[in-house]
Amino acid sequence: MAPSSKSTPAMMRIAIAGGGGLAWALAEAISETPHALVVLTRSAEIRASFDEFGCDVMEVDYNSQSSLRYALRGADLVLSTVKGQPQLNLIRAAKHEMISRFVPAEWEGALSHRSGTEDARDPGSQDALSALRDASRSSRHPMNYTVFSCGLFYEWFAPGGLSVYQVASEDTYCNFQGALFIEGESMAATITENNAEGRTVRVSMTSISDVGRFVAAALDLGIASWEKEYKMRGTQMSVRDIVATFGRVRNGMLQHPINTLCIPLNHKADTTLHKIATTDIRYIRYQDLSRFVNSSIQSQDYGMYFLYRRLKNAADGRWHFGSSNLTTALTNNHLMTFEPIAFDAFLESSWGPYS
Ligand SMILES: NC(=O)c1ccc[n+]([C@@H]2O[C@H](COP(=O)([O-])OP(=O)(O)OC[C@H]3O[C@@H](n4cnc5c(N)ncnc54)[C@H](OP(=O)(O)O)[C@@H]3O)[C@@H](O)[C@H]2O)c1
Repeated sequence: MAPSSKSTPAMMRIAIAGGGGLAWALAEAISETPHALVVLTRSAEIRASFDEFGCDVMEVDYNSQSSLRYALRGADLVLSTVKGQPQLNLIRAAKHEMISRFVPAEWEGALSHRSGTEDARDPGSQDALSALRDASRSSRHPMNYTVFSCGLFYEWFAPGGLSVYQVASEDTYCNFQGALFIEGESMAATITENNAEGRTVRVSMTSISDVGRFVAAALDLGIASWEKEYKMRGTQMSVRDIVATFGRVRNGMLQHPINTLCIPLNHKADTTLHKIATTDIRYIRYQDLSRFVNSSIQSQDYGMYFLYRRLKNAADGRWHFGSSNLTTALTNNHLMTFEPIAFDAFLESSWGPYS
């Protein structure tokens, strides 16, 4: 491998807040670097799952500044996977401990494509970003921050969905397989193919493990030089191709004819897609989405409400971004030492072979 054009950054102490699946992937990748690692958790029970990484695990109380400050003492970088008020408390403690850089729990689409309004599934996001902006402007001890935007996790489409990977553990409207685009067991899909301008809806996606690898690789860029936002991705695809890829990978596993679970609305024949995917696809036009969002909330059908909102988010470009500036920075510095897993390879490995 060619040497990095930058000198090797000094060894750091890195704190990861939260002990779920994303934290685990970050710890797994960072444990391959020389940096010291501490995981902050509310429950000491998760200690065993981090044992293999040889890192410290500290039990914290997010309502106690002294507990958080003690855990963060001596850290250079905080990687947060914790949202809402607990994260705001963590930001306050990190500022007090003069942490150099804070990475908030914003592991989603590009910042420029957020709606700007509070996301019901992501409470406190705007507040956290605003607190970080303020902290970065402090005249005495500015604390820098970086958002890592990764698009959608591939794991939405794995058997069992996000909950199997211990992500969105308390969000029962999104952590199951079928929460987005495709219901894998019944091979039914609900998609909006074109956005308000009639253009193909596309999303950027990354596997959770690769998010960990990207962040670990970025450490060698030196956190002092990190940008405000780093975008990464394993792939970018149209939602139509996501369904087609899913169908192609899973096709051989179908034992029964497709069940019509979803009533086709505005269904249009697409022989190519059906030939590849043999999937029952419900197409929803962009112009109908707002009406469906409103009617599902009125009928208190929260499952459908979140599904339609996600379709609208996807169509509005929430998880799509053009260039991946982290990949570019890593490549330019000869630090792109891994190949992110492709979506079809991820599906094949997670759904397993047909038996
Ligand atoms: N891009 C995508 O497709 C996608 C999808 C879902 C989530 N995400 C991102 O993944 C990150 C984690 O998502 P999530 O919050 O939904 O995952 P989560 O699993 O609900 O929470 C992550 C960790 O936060 C801690 N935590 C949970 N509730 C808490 C509370 N009330 N008080 C204090 N700590 C709490 C837990 O760690 P301990 O129990 O160890 O303390 C938990 O493991 C977020 O940044 C989110 O944006 C991205």
